[in-house]
Amino acid sequence: MNIDYNTNLYCLIGNPINKSLSPKIHNYIFKEKNINSVYLCFNIDEKNLASTLNNFKVLGVKGFNVTIPHKVKIMKYLDDIDEEARYLESVNTVKNIKGRFIGYNTDGLGFIKSLKDRNIELRNKNVLVLGAGGASSAISTKLALEGVNKIIILNRTLDKAKKIATNIYEKFNDIKVEYNNLDKAYKYPYIDMLINCTSIGMYPNIDRIPVDISVFNKKIIVYDVVYKPNKTKLLDASEKRGFKIINGIDMLVNQGLLSQKIWFNYEGNESYNKLNGIKNFINRV
Ligand code: ATR
Repeated sequence: MNIDYNTNLYCLIGNPINKSLSPKIHNYIFKEKNINSVYLCFNIDEKNLASTLNNFKVLGVKGFNVTIPHKVKIMKYLDDIDEEARYLESVNTVKNIKGRFIGYNTDGLGFIKSLKDRNIELRNKNVLVLGAGGASSAISTKLALEGVNKIIILNRTLDKAKKIATNIYEKFNDIKVEYNNLDKAYKYPYIDMLINCTSIGMYPNIDRIPVDISVFNKKIIVYDVVYKPNKTKLLDASEKRGFKIINGIDMLVNQGLLSQKIWFNYEGNESYNKLNGIKNFINRV
């Protein structure tokens, strides 16, 4: 790595960030594409969000990603928000455009791409989404856009589940939406897909599982957006029951590539496709 006076800084803010694979992804791409930039991680408390953004502006940070637990709270500190992120009510990518911080969302598209790459059909499916933070908001709205039959959002804090459910209901009146407490998963044994958008099971709390999965039928797909550990307790237990499982790695790589596309104005899919080698690299890390 050839760091000099011209090197640009990109980074991730979140809490916790100490097992994040984002630096591996972005620094790999910088190296492959000969871009004079580095990508670092910063563990930021919510109370320091505003000052962090001010400091990033002073330092001329070119762009950054946002992860748990700031994807929604960051929105009020940004100078503008792109249409898709506003629609999904969640920001995971920020670009510095002439000193103004503009928020984008690449999670939603990254998630959908990971399913399309596996030829998983979403139309008319019943989907149970766990969690009601930024990831849940982006994913639930994308599921509605894909034409699922029903979305059920479960969360520890019921008000947040209600807010996402209400948004979806208002945007898509032909899609059935329900919300409930996180411990009510047993009420929905008929679901086709379960998506964990909570941080339960994420490093360092790897012994936790968000819901009891014994009620679901064998044909369900269990998707955990958590990627550290590679196989969460939820995925491990699901696999043992014979469910199809998907972890958060593909979504992570997809959203990272899409962030690069935003930061560097890549046109079309050409550069994006070229960067797909990153998936092989990340799977080896
Ligand atoms: P992100 O924006 O990345 O989705 P977030 O907004 O912090 O991150 O959301 C994290 C989700 O995990 C929330 O749904 C949170 O539940 P609350 O809304 O009740 O806070 C959920 N979560 C985190 N830790 C949890 C725990 N120990 N038990 C239950 N839910 C938890």
